[in-house]
Amino acid sequence: MEELTPEAWRRLLRRPLAAPADLPLYGPLCGAAEFVLGRLAQSLDGYIALRDGRSQWISGPEDIAHTHRVRALSDAVVVGAGTVRADDPQLTTRLCEGPNPVRVILDPALRLPATHRVFDGSVDTLVVAAGTARSANRVGAAEVLRVAGTEHALDLPALRAALRARGLRRLFVEGGGKTVARFLAAGLLDRLHVTVAPMLMGAGIPAFPLPPVDNLGEAPRYTWAVHPIGRDILLDIALTPP
Ligand SMILES: NC(=O)c1ccc[n+]([C@@H]2O[C@H](COP(=O)([O-])OP(=O)(O)OC[C@H]3O[C@@H](n4cnc5c(N)ncnc54)[C@H](OP(=O)(O)O)[C@@H]3O)[C@@H](O)[C@H]2O)c1
Repeated sequence: MEELTPEAWRRLLRRPLAAPADLPLYGPLCGAAEFVLGRLAQSLDGYIALRDGRSQWISGPEDIAHTHRVRALSDAVVVGAGTVRADDPQLTTRLCEGPNPVRVILDPALRLPATHRVFDGSVDTLVVAAGTARSANRVGAAEVLRVAGTEHALDLPALRAALRARGLRRLFVEGGGKTVARFLAAGLLDRLHVTVAPMLMGAGIPAFPLPPVDNLGEAPRYTWAVHPIGRDILLDIALTPP
């Protein structure tokens, strides 16, 4: 990624949301009382990270700014344990205006150590575990939320209902590939933002690890709106009618 000065970052990230050019992309999110938005940044050949898990950075600074803005428009940001393990993210809006969403970490067997930054108590955080996971009420400062399902397959509709019961209705599923793919396969995503960067990786962690289709006619097909975002392209796919 090109080097940006701190001042350039500030200009990029604090650009007001209400600029007319932003409306097609952010309007559907600003106007929705509830949504589940999945998001990934991938290479041209469909990978979201190198084989060893490094993914910083595939897309450019404008796309990172976009991610922070969507966090600010969401009640909760959801990521899988693999992303916490690989990236140790903070999942905050520290680089743009707007509140931090509640962090929701899917760690079905409660294997992540409490030393990860998402457990530091700086932002409300839930760790979602299966009922069979080891007995614990907290991981670091984060509250453990038990949901139905198994350690291999959490019951995602039950998770959505549990989050809704806590007032968390606007969900940003920020990765990784397994987590977004499972929300998609469960029919829970209303929208997808996929940023495609003009680069090839050859091998890596796939964007959408889904069961294969045997016939092209059976493959789900979508319509998308295409937004240039810096040197990348952001594909905005509405999966359910507004
Ligand atoms: N380019 C991007 O946009 C982007 C975004 C985020 C992350 N990443 C990269 O992607 C990689 C991680 O992605 P990933 O696909 O390997 O993993 P991931 O989706 O981050 O996490 C997968 C893990 O989360 C848990 N999990 C998620 N959904 C579950 C469900 N419905 N039921 C049960 N468990 C569930 C499981 O934990 P257990 O392992 O405990 O079973 C699962 O193995 C990292 O390298 C990260 O850097 C890239």
